[in-house]
Amino acid sequence: MQPMNFSTVLVLFLCCVFQLSSAWTMNNFLMTGPKAYLTYASSVQVGAQSGIRECKRQFALEKWNCPENTRSLSPHNGLRSATRETSFVHAISAAGVMYTLTKNCTAGDFDNCGCDDSKIGQPGGAGWIWGGCSDNVAFGEKISKQFVDALEDGHDSRAAVNLHNNEAGRLAIKATMRKACKCHGVSGSCTIQTCWMQMADFREVGNYLKMKYKHAKELEMDKKAARAGNSADNRDAVTHTFLSVATTELIYLESSPNYCVKNQTLGLHGTEGRECFKEDKNMSQWEKNSCRRLCNECGLKVVKKRTEVFISCNCKFHWCCTVKCEKCKRVVAKYFCSLGSK
Ligand SMILES: *[C@@H]1O[C@H](CO)[C@@H](O)[C@H](O)[C@H]1NC(C)=O
Ligand SMILES: *[C@@H]1O[C@H](CO)[C@@H](O)[C@H](O)[C@H]1NC(C)=O
Ligand SMILES: *[C@@H]1O[C@H](CO)[C@@H](O)[C@H](O)[C@H]1NC(C)=O
Repeated sequence: MQPMNFSTVLVLFLCCVFQLSSAWTMNNFLMTGPKAYLTYASSVQVGAQSGIRECKRQFALEKWNCPENTRSLSPHNGLRSATRETSFVHAISAAGVMYTLTKNCTAGDFDNCGCDDSKIGQPGGAGWIWGGCSDNVAFGEKISKQFVDALEDGHDSRAAVNLHNNEAGRLAIKATMRKACKCHGVSGSCTIQTCWMQMADFREVGNYLKMKYKHAKELEMDKKAARAGNSADNRDAVTHTFLSVATTELIYLESSPNYCVKNQTLGLHGTEGRECFKEDKNMSQWEKNSCRRLCNECGLKVVKKRTEVFISCNCKFHWCCTVKCEKCKRVVAKYFCSLGSK
């Protein structure tokens, strides 16, 4: 698969805005205007990138790798599928965009947006009132919908599933928000607190969605009909089917392909050549099992390669106050999945 930079994604966004009045209606566009559109576009790009980065981190030692970009999600990619994995990519991308836009808003990056002050001054609970600067997630949510959901221009079941997963991603941000408070009163006696809601670290949103990924639900429906293409009937059928699935849950239509095997048509790299880790370091169980998972389970051998690395060594402290080190060559063993013999 060709790598693609994010300006291409933006071109895709732009194309959709001008070509399709269904997903992002012309009314919306006229309301915000082309200037606002360009104001948000760079933040959308940064947000989508941060979504992909977190996706890569969450799946670092799994057979499936996150895509390098969000092109595979484009409805104009004839091969796009709706698997458990693509449900995660949709959710984390939509969440990344919402997250970045909301942060931008809190930071005062946009003229027309600021903290959520709707509850300021109101009592919140025993001993505290709403104050400070609550993250304006409604703003981030709105703009994320306008940009990310606009990519789903089709009316088939996949479009409906993708939109559902985008929404689940945005809900993950709301679900992981937490209250932060500040004490007031004589010399910090904390007789009264002001509190506000802020978003969790994006890492936490990633962890939350990874859990949703593990419990993702396959839609029970007529799969032949679902694959048949752009039919309003299909969309209705899907809509009906997932009325029973909570908006917070990830859903998919197709079982995952074999991620062990390289398949260029599907844009899959396979696990041959992937690095894994042996137990000789202080590692989590997940890392310790990585060679078995990536290589052995895929019918590949683990090969050891010696690699030279330079590290700081023989460091001496000089009065005052510098530390001088030498560079020493070390040979370290690295492990890779390989077809060949050991
Ligand atoms: C929004 O935030 C991102 C990440 O912090 C930053 O790179 C971007 O420049 C910001 N956008 C604007 C319009 O300031
Ligand atoms: C790649 O995947 C497609 C679609 O599932 C399949 O038809 C094809 O046989 C696969 N190719 C290889 C080399 O496995
Ligand atoms: C190794 O892992 C244990 C348990 O996770 C931790 O307590 C310890 O600090 C780690 N040691 C090093 C050198 O990282």
